[in-house]
Amino acid sequence: MAIAKVGVVGCGLMGSGIAEICAKAGLSTIVREVSDEFLKKGQERINGSLAKAMKRAIEKEKKDPTMAQMEMAQSIGRLSYTTRLEDLKDCDLVVEAIIEDKGQKQDLYKQLDALCKPSTIFCSNTSNISITELGAVTRRADKFAGLHFFNPVPVMKLVEVIKGVLTSDATLGELKGFSEKVGKTAIVAKDTCGFVVNVLLVPYLFDAIRLVENGVASIRDIDTGMKLGCGYPMGPLELLDFVGIDTTYHISVNMFEEFKSDRYAAPPLLKKMHLAGLHGRKTGKGFYDYTDPANPVPMKLA
Ligand SMILES: NC(=O)c1ccc[n+]([C@@H]2O[C@H](COP(=O)([O-])OP(=O)(O)OC[C@H]3O[C@@H](n4cnc5c(N)ncnc54)[C@H](O)[C@@H]3O)[C@@H](O)[C@H]2O)c1
Repeated sequence: MAIAKVGVVGCGLMGSGIAEICAKAGLSTIVREVSDEFLKKGQERINGSLAKAMKRAIEKEKKDPTMAQMEMAQSIGRLSYTTRLEDLKDCDLVVEAIIEDKGQKQDLYKQLDALCKPSTIFCSNTSNISITELGAVTRRADKFAGLHFFNPVPVMKLVEVIKGVLTSDATLGELKGFSEKVGKTAIVAKDTCGFVVNVLLVPYLFDAIRLVENGVASIRDIDTGMKLGCGYPMGPLELLDFVGIDTTYHISVNMFEEFKSDRYAAPPLLKKMHLAGLHGRKTGKGFYDYTDPANPVPMKLA
């Protein structure tokens, strides 16, 4: 089956990026949000990102401006927006990127299962909810998988394709082809909490928080250490602010529950920052204060 029409459910940080790369890759893309207000916000985010990419193509890659504008208009033309789930019924692939809540995701999949044609493949962008458990509420567990993109989606090259216990090889094949079409490199992982990247990344981030808690080095020096010492583009505390302190906290709760290992136990400082609303860039303060976004200043977190 060729994937020609994609439905994206949820148009927040991740859904908007996923919709954007699908439209850019020439796929007819329909986006569903819960209200007109969220739909408008999502549409603005997508159009803003497409405009930024066009500007970059003209200024940095010296692309012909007329061509760049035409390509942007074509991408915008491939996108449509709705609050009605029924409008996704003839999609070949539905990618879900709603909030990280198992109950809400399962409710959504039950509705989609009743609406969509039998051949539609369902994918979740979940960070660590079991794909098998989500797929089990549908009658198409063989056509159900994880498609875990990274933030920001238009920039990050990786996608993790997650195989649930019943996901068929044909579905995996379709998703590898789709990943390539939208310009990503796919790696395949079994349905285990955190897949590949978060299993490795989360303990590293938590160790960096413990260095702050123990007063081993300053926030700035920890980040500088990993950037200059290991060649990482961002330090661990900058990365935590980028991903979101709240998101990381929720990921840690799920991972700790699954593995019962100290490696995934949220350091007390992470929990306190979450409770204090210091969620990183999205709230303007986390390990850094972003009052001047061009010049973030380390926070005093004692
Ligand atoms: N933020 C990240 O860095 C990141 C990275 C990888 C994966 N994820 C995963 O992607 C998913 C989305 O995360 P996000 O950061 O984009 O969240 P977000 O809060 O920015 O966006 C979620 C959107 O889903 C919408 N929504 C909720 N219920 C809906 C429904 N039934 N139908 C349609 N829309 C609905 C909300 O209105 C909201 O706009 C989560 O499962 C998260 O774990 C996030």
